[in-house]
Amino acid sequence: MLISLKHRCKPACLVLAVTLLSMANIGCSSHQGHAAAKTGESATSDAATISIQSPLASRGKLIFDQTPKYASAYVGNKLSCNDCHIQSGTADYAAPMIHLAGLFPMFNKRAGHVISLENRIQECFSRSEAGRPLPVESDEMHALVAYIDSLSRGGGKGKPYKGRGLVKLPSLEGDATAGKQVYVSQCASCHGTDGAGVPPVLPALWGPDSYNDGAGMNNPAKMAAFVIHNMPQNHPGTLTAQQAYDVSAFIHAMPRPQFNQAYKNY
Ligand code: HEC
Ligand code: HEC
Repeated sequence: MLISLKHRCKPACLVLAVTLLSMANIGCSSHQGHAAAKTGESATSDAATISIQSPLASRGKLIFDQTPKYASAYVGNKLSCNDCHIQSGTADYAAPMIHLAGLFPMFNKRAGHVISLENRIQECFSRSEAGRPLPVESDEMHALVAYIDSLSRGGGKGKPYKGRGLVKLPSLEGDATAGKQVYVSQCASCHGTDGAGVPPVLPALWGPDSYNDGAGMNNPAKMAAFVIHNMPQNHPGTLTAQQAYDVSAFIHAMPRPQFNQAYKNY
């Protein structure tokens, strides 16, 4: 399955993965491991093939995959972009970066006005990364934008990618007590009974190394939509919508870093 590929790729072969899992109809969707991805043959598809040949874009991918290491001054926890935007931002319904650049500038509900891609990345740093906004004119910002641009080639201007965002779920009420059972039996083996994970390999779900309470994931419905499609990482697609809401309610009853109001414009 895709998962064995994910495990294999986590530390080592991400460059290969991004090349092969090319946003297209292969690899990241959810079907059996693609032969080309397994053997390392080159793969082609209808969609544009990702090319991250430019040194700046490659640097951006490093920052995306290992954010606390390569953008340490701006990160306050131990999460990388890649922990949520799975497979270096190429997995469907894990809020992929594919064909995203052409959608900006776009109206942002949280900000209440139109924002640039750089502004959106700044929000990620002050919220999901529990840190501070990355300056627009920094090397790290230029690199991240170059990487996202490289995943956006071939995308129509203003036309969203089919796997954009998260899956749509009905709106349900989560039960944290039931969610604890789901967590203990299906999540704790990787994320720990204390939710701290084993960063950078297994990310934290709550506590000081997790995202703060201003983050997009700090929303039980959003987390449920992420989890139902992407978790448990070794058996995705096995939870019911109710279980996904329950486990999200449990996780959101636990402590996490506070959003720094000094960055409320980000
Ligand atoms: C804790 C999980 C998490 C982390 C870490 C994280 N993000 Fe996100 N990100 C999200 C969620 C959730 C969304 C919203 C998805 C939705 O609502 O469709 C999002 C949305 C985005 C978007 C807008 C996507 C779209 O389709 O409009 C961008 C761009 C983005 N993130 C970039 C980043 C970058 C760059 C980093 C690292 C610096 C990062 N994110 C770290 C969870 C995370
Ligand atoms: C086999 C190990 C494993 C299991 C089991 C697992 N996860 Fe994960 N989880 C991961 C890994 C690894 C990531 C980072 C993304 C990736 O590489 O797939 C992740 C990422 C996440 C994230 C986004 C990053 C963050 O830290 O906020 C959430 C939320 C999450 N998992 C929730 C769950 C929930 C809920 C369960 C149980 C239903 C679960 N996971 C079970 C390994 C696992």
